[in-house]
Amino acid sequence: MASLSALLHPAATEPDPTVAELLAGRPDLRMDALDGLLLEGVPLAAIAAELGTPTWVTGAGTIRRRLARLRAALAEAGLEASIHYAVKANDHLAVLRTLALEGAGADVVSGGELRRAVRAGIGPGHIVFSGVGKSDDELRLALSLGIAQINVESAEELERLSALAAAGGQRARIVLRVNPDVDAGTHEKITTGRADNKFGVAWSDAASLYARAAALPGLEPVGFAVHIGSQITDPAPFRAAYARVAELVRAVRASGHAVSVVDCGGGLGISYRDEPEGSPRAFAHAIRLALGDLGLQLAIEPGRWLVAPAGLLLTRVLFVKHSADGVPFVVLDAGMNDLARPSLYDAWHGIVPVSARAALAPAEAAHLVGPVCETGDRFAQARLLPRLAPGALVAILDAGAYGAVMSSTYNARPLAAQAMVDDGRWSTIRQRQEVEALWAGEIVPDWLGPADAPP
Ligand code: LLP
Repeated sequence: MASLSALLHPAATEPDPTVAELLAGRPDLRMDALDGLLLEGVPLAAIAAELGTPTWVTGAGTIRRRLARLRAALAEAGLEASIHYAVKANDHLAVLRTLALEGAGADVVSGGELRRAVRAGIGPGHIVFSGVGKSDDELRLALSLGIAQINVESAEELERLSALAAAGGQRARIVLRVNPDVDAGTHEKITTGRADNKFGVAWSDAASLYARAAALPGLEPVGFAVHIGSQITDPAPFRAAYARVAELVRAVRASGHAVSVVDCGGGLGISYRDEPEGSPRAFAHAIRLALGDLGLQLAIEPGRWLVAPAGLLLTRVLFVKHSADGVPFVVLDAGMNDLARPSLYDAWHGIVPVSARAALAPAEAAHLVGPVCETGDRFAQARLLPRLAPGALVAILDAGAYGAVMSSTYNARPLAAQAMVDDGRWSTIRQRQEVEALWAGEIVPDWLGPADAPP
């Protein structure tokens, strides 16, 4: 018989994984009978007691171990590929610093991310700049810092960048991001490599635009970049995209141009529920197979795979509210303004009680929702979970990527606090935002009189 969860949630065909199943796949999370849920040996209850909730917790040790696994997979495939961490996944300075100390480079998509990466100690020679809409100021910043490479995404950007570089007596090292028209088979809102997506230059224009770049005074084209989407767990679309890029490299070389770099993008997925995670070995082999024999300098831009499993959102149950369909609403103190992924992409995140005793309560289906005044402010629909009582602390798992970084202050909810754990120790890495900070930059025009005077 189908579970209640499967009946109520059309996407769920299998019963929800149990707490034990969720923990079994996450070696840095552990349930201790006394201390409750631990991340890298640090009791999450202790962090919540000091910082309150909601609070993001990120594990530096987990990030280092995942980076090491990715590097080992590349080495095992015989690849010498640079890793440019996709800063957008989690741009906290402490996360960037953790990766900088391990020798990772950065893939940035704005002047702000570029400045963050440099601020965290990532050398400009290890930074690449992607994105469909770079402003003149951002391009000038990249040129003045002398970053490793700019990933150009349109004919218009080529001309613009050449003019800016030439005006400063420079030649910008660029790669052309191509759109290979490959369907990554991922969520509609995070697919980037189909012809109808805005990213990269059209496949049919790639060779001629590369020739154009070579003729422009301010540019030094060195190769190609491709990124087909995010949360990809099947290696087939990677293989298809890299095979197309290899074809392009051969064709462009045959027409007399030098091609020395291929940036293979990011996109490797993780296991949020019970799907197999994207395999770094299969990813490395896909690159090796298509591009390994072309004498290229290779690079990748992983974001999610490195940091998502390293982070979680600690939140407390405010109320348990009865509902007409008999499935209670468990109202949490975190909302879609904190973690937007469930409301934006119908994303499934594991949810685990922090106390060991609470984790042993009998399972019951519940809708887990936030306090924001939107129906979409929902973390789980008819989820089978140990029955939660008001005041219970829960951890929303795998929130280290596209979590805190996508938060907003909607409903005038200050940004949550953040802590970093690191194999047994922990530290606050962002204070909870003060409510006054919400209006600190706002200006009430003089003609409205003093903002705090009675009307
Ligand atoms: N390189 C480029 C050019 C990208 O656009 C991205 C992600 C990456 C690398 C890193 O991809 P990753 O390895 O993290 O999959 N907010 C969405 C994901 C958006 C991804 C945007 N681009 C989510 O929460 O699922």
